[in-house]
Amino acid sequence: MIHGPNLNLLGVREPGVYGSVTLEEINRLLTEKAVSLCVSLSVIQSNHEGILVDAIQGALGQHQGILINAGAYTHTSIAIRDALSAVKIPTVEVHLSNIYQRENFRHHSYIAPIAMGQISGFGANSYLLGLDALHHHLSR
Ligand code: DQA
Repeated sequence: MIHGPNLNLLGVREPGVYGSVTLEEINRLLTEKAVSLCVSLSVIQSNHEGILVDAIQGALGQHQGILINAGAYTHTSIAIRDALSAVKIPTVEVHLSNIYQRENFRHHSYIAPIAMGQISGFGANSYLLGLDALHHHLSR
């Protein structure tokens, strides 16, 4: 699970848009779900694009799937998209908010074309749905 910039502020950041759930709580829910699916999960959050690129590269040979909420880098980062393309690890993109109901600049995702799919708009549940989707794909 890769969390991008500003997601460390969940709970205090624009609760009207992102809800009141904290990142710690999301990670707890994801960890519980991973246990119930019998999969291992590692989690990283960074506000720095290069650290996120390093994490994606570091997943090669270590992880079978990537769940990513790249935050604002979704809409700007060719480097993150290229890293995901390079490692070719099945990726599910998630967002708490429905990015298509928001400002125009959020309607474009650099990640979506190279991801298996995108889950957007279900709050913290987007992450759990994303993990389910990834698990389902990897268990085929
Ligand atoms: C977000 C949506 C992005 O547009 C925004 O920059 C975020 C959070 C979401 O989860 O809804 O930081 O990825």
